[in-house]
Amino acid sequence: MPELTYHGHATFGLTTEEGIRIVIDPWFDENPLSDLRVEDFDALDYVLCTHGHPDHFADAVPLTKRTGATLVSSFEIVEFAETRGVPGDRLHPLSIGGGHRFPFGYAKMTPALHGTRVHGSEGRVDAMPGGFWLALDGGRLYHAGDTALITDMQLLRGRVDVALLPIGDNFTMGPEDAARAVEFIEPDLVIPMHYDTFDLIRQDPDEFRELVGETARVRILSPGESHRF
Ligand code: NI
Ligand code: MN
Repeated sequence: MPELTYHGHATFGLTTEEGIRIVIDPWFDENPLSDLRVEDFDALDYVLCTHGHPDHFADAVPLTKRTGATLVSSFEIVEFAETRGVPGDRLHPLSIGGGHRFPFGYAKMTPALHGTRVHGSEGRVDAMPGGFWLALDGGRLYHAGDTALITDMQLLRGRVDVALLPIGDNFTMGPEDAARAVEFIEPDLVIPMHYDTFDLIRQDPDEFRELVGETARVRILSPGESHRF
């Protein structure tokens, strides 16, 4: 069974049945909720990044450089990472709606309605934000990234076993819209994310659980806690 581990905010670790190690939206060193730091990683195979905001991208380049992992993200972010010294053979660009069969499974970038800038010391570039839909041996995972509620989520109905949805409000969906997203997607299980990291996005995840009701199971993970699916 794939094992998913929450590291706070939108950062997750994922180990597949085959033992391939993935991190989604790496934000460790400055993440107030994280149980890990970049220096805790020695071996890693893939880094997936939904968009270029620092709370999703900040440790993508350091982690990729440290571990030799391959960075999978939008074309623009991958191109930006190359200017920061990640070798081209460890970069895999995707665009929204496009996917690729990787050794760990099929990964597709999904639409997200959100901001577009990647900031870095060499300036900034525009990069479409997205999410990831992963078809792994053992289950299908959807990491929504940072997004508003969008009707496109209805296209995922019946195709998601575990959904990772932001509930923090202010920068993303809040609990009510996230509960509507659950109605759109009908996953087996939802794990709320992108909340409680700082004051603007304080939420009670139990309230989200109540709003979801019988539509799906809700599992609230603490940083460092894992879920097998
Ligand atoms: Ni963002
Ligand atoms: Mn964010």
